[in-house]
Amino acid sequence: MRDLVRETDLSPARLILPLFIREGNGVRLPIGSMPGHFQLSIDEMLKELRECLSLQLGGVLLFGIPDHKDAVGSDALSGEGIVAKAVRAAKAEVGNRLLVITDVCFCEYTDHGHCGVLRPFRPETGGNDKSRLDVDNDLTLENLVRQSLIHAGAGADMLAPSGMIDGMIGAIRRGLDREHFEHLPIMSYAAKYASAFYGPFREAAESAPRFGDRRSYQMDPTAGAAQAVREVRLDLEEGADIVMVKPALPYLDIIRLVHERFEEVPLAAYNVSGEYSMVKAAAAQGWLDEKATVLESLFSITRAGARIIITYWAKDVARWLQR
Ligand code: PBG
Repeated sequence: MRDLVRETDLSPARLILPLFIREGNGVRLPIGSMPGHFQLSIDEMLKELRECLSLQLGGVLLFGIPDHKDAVGSDALSGEGIVAKAVRAAKAEVGNRLLVITDVCFCEYTDHGHCGVLRPFRPETGGNDKSRLDVDNDLTLENLVRQSLIHAGAGADMLAPSGMIDGMIGAIRRGLDREHFEHLPIMSYAAKYASAFYGPFREAAESAPRFGDRRSYQMDPTAGAAQAVREVRLDLEEGADIVMVKPALPYLDIIRLVHERFEEVPLAAYNVSGEYSMVKAAAAQGWLDEKATVLESLFSITRAGARIIITYWAKDVARWLQR
């Protein structure tokens, strides 16, 4: 009876698993703040992909952790960079049976940990005071296009720009179309808040900013909902195919709002690292039942209006749903 009247459905095909990829062989480095997750070398990633295939997940989202970081994030601009190699290996392994999505951003690749190229915040302050440095929006756009073409050339199935750089979707779309990747979809991190819930991810991806924070490009968590609608609308006008709200649980109202305003657009939600670590920590203490808590959370994200969920529990949930 309950199944007959069910309004909300969750299936493995809607879930995307984030993976952190680094150089090496046989590397499987545990991420302390995210029990059950690892930094993986490419050969270990392939094992994960086979598991994702057998669980019929919707896809994976790849984050690269390069050996070498510098001011511009050169590894991300090279066909021999970690993500380019990972995508080629992944597609050779899974073909068309699993969607391989790449995170398009620079914070994992730059030595300063910011999501783009830096320049003095105001020309008159000079470049010496690091607290006055800020991401140069338009120079970063050029690099985002170059990075996107690297991912596209390696065979990525979809690009997910996550830097909240103004104009990034339009610039990437035009760059892709110019090089005949007009079929390649873009999933935009459209409404991404400057959230405290990304803490564990920054350990996982070794991407914490060395100074300052990301508030000059990510959204203000205390500001309200209308600007999320504006961000989503802009990204859709610029050519986004799928839009995302991030984080998920503290922003269910934003998911709902975007769903209602843009009902015809596929909406994704990112159940982020902090949401994962909180439950893991409480479950390890015996304070929460992990499976029940996670399923309840993911159903609520679906009920709010997200069709696609990016979650570190993707494999677990697929198994739990099978039983
Ligand atoms: C930026 C990026 C971040 C996350 C996904 N892409 C970190 C940030 O904005 O600082 C966070 C994901 C998570 O917390 O799980 N490349």
